[in-house]
Amino acid sequence: MKFFIDTANIDEIKEAAELGILDGVTTNPTLLSREKGKGDFKEILKKICDIAQGPVSAEVVGEDADTMVREGKKLAALGEHIVIKIPFVKEGFKAVGRLSREGIRTHATLIFSPNQALLAAKAGATFISPFVGRLDDATHYGMDLISQIVQIYDNYDFVTEVMVSSVRNPLHVLEAALIGADIVTVPLKVIEQMIKHPLTDVGVKKFMDDWKKLGAEI
Ligand code: E4P
Repeated sequence: MKFFIDTANIDEIKEAAELGILDGVTTNPTLLSREKGKGDFKEILKKICDIAQGPVSAEVVGEDADTMVREGKKLAALGEHIVIKIPFVKEGFKAVGRLSREGIRTHATLIFSPNQALLAAKAGATFISPFVGRLDDATHYGMDLISQIVQIYDNYDFVTEVMVSSVRNPLHVLEAALIGADIVTVPLKVIEQMIKHPLTDVGVKKFMDDWKKLGAEI
């Protein structure tokens, strides 16, 4: 399972890279807006690429396919790691197909139904982002969507990778792993929550106390 970090914050991305599990980075307009005042967004994306050395999703904001394709090409020119993230509305669907056919990697986002995922795969998307947290927020069990998409992609051997997105807690990651999703994109906070277990902390304290009693050095 690949782990992407869902942020445009350089410090957080560096920290995830130091943990040694960083396979890629996802950004979106909201995440980039949180970095306002820290430099030009294109420079931020280039820095992210340097640190990640893997796929970095950058999102278009155009409202028609021509604009999305134009923006996608500009963003793709920033570096070889950039993947073009496109909201899966009708114009976005067209843009995913057009960029994919030109060999530019695409990431269909704001996926909330299995049929959107099916069409994104047909259009040649490299990644799709079904948003589990936002579905949970709306009282729909988000993980049901992941199960259905994984089954559909398995049925037809689609190569599009399922990136579980809008992840809010470690249970989302666990369920994604049990289903067999290809990727999770997670906030740093969730990775930190996954590392931590109170019984590990209690165990470490006991070992340290007992080691002190021994009075030895390694
Ligand atoms: C990732 O690609 C998405 O942009 C992100 O996971 C959305 O998360 P949110 O629902 O917490 O904003």
